[in-house]
Amino acid sequence: MFPLRRNRRLRTTEAMRALVRETTISPNDFIVPLFVVEGKGVKDEIASMPGYYRLSLDNLQKEVKELWKLGLKSVLLFVKVDDKLKDNSGTEALNPNGLMQRSIKAVKDAVPGMVVMTDVALDPFSSFGHDGIVGGGKIVNDDTSAVLAEMALSHANAGADVVAPSDMMDGRIFEMRTLLEDEGHHDIGIMSYSAKYASAFYGPFRDALDSAPVDLKDVPKDKKTYQMDYANREEAVKETLMDIDEGADIVMVKPGLCYLDIVRDIKNAVNVPVAVYQVSGEYAMIKAAAERGWLDHDAVVLEQTFAIKRAGADLIASYFAKDVVKLIS
Ligand code: PBG
Repeated sequence: MFPLRRNRRLRTTEAMRALVRETTISPNDFIVPLFVVEGKGVKDEIASMPGYYRLSLDNLQKEVKELWKLGLKSVLLFVKVDDKLKDNSGTEALNPNGLMQRSIKAVKDAVPGMVVMTDVALDPFSSFGHDGIVGGGKIVNDDTSAVLAEMALSHANAGADVVAPSDMMDGRIFEMRTLLEDEGHHDIGIMSYSAKYASAFYGPFRDALDSAPVDLKDVPKDKKTYQMDYANREEAVKETLMDIDEGADIVMVKPGLCYLDIVRDIKNAVNVPVAVYQVSGEYAMIKAAAERGWLDHDAVVLEQTFAIKRAGADLIASYFAKDVVKLIS
């Protein structure tokens, strides 16, 4: 009762606030997404993601060395492949000498201790820009899961530590886990994008990889038959529990900021690490507003990162990871 209780007593100085702070951020909280392209000396800025780049393998190696020095110990790899290599069956995704497979080796050569996570989905390799095989106007679930399991195996063979299926097919975690176990890859982690919503915030990412769904007859124009409806909340818990049953080691909510209610629900429902992906559109919004002088970039980045962590994220995949680590050090 006032004045016995004055809540402002614990807010008087920064030292006092730090003493009673409930949430902390450290470099260990982050997964750094990286975009890889063919070539040499390439550092190609993504138009809708100012300050973020597509890197060739040599620059990828430089980047991971810098990340490691900053205390960032985990990367999530995505590759941009030439249109000529795209088809409807994920052929290039399984190429043992493909760009992803070479990227994994390049990172491990540069920084052996780095935890290498890899994107498992067909969209960067799909002539239709879908995460799975297209047939009869649909994304064919079970055939896709079989290819994704092969893709995960190929990444494991190349040296990945964790495979990260971002596709939202049903049963793909089980397929993947079974194949990895059968092939002796007992220690490969699976980070499942378990509650991934059909979101308009992925736009800049699709620019980065040139992976947007194509506008063709008999090809779905969006990903709403596999990614989740953003009106749903309980379904996210169901999806996530199923993926854990199927063998996921880490689960994920994606996007971040608009989905923090989901993050908390899942954090309360599971006992595996929960990752949150603060996606490309979230990055772009902050960059655009800051460029115009409408928002304080660093302050907003920190506030959003803390909000994601406070909501229940154990891990955050973030394009701001380097910024945040510099800001908190
Ligand atoms: C596709 C994939 C997407 C992202 C990660 N993997 C886009 C999509 O589902 O269309 C988005 C990441 C981001 O926007 O930062 N498998």
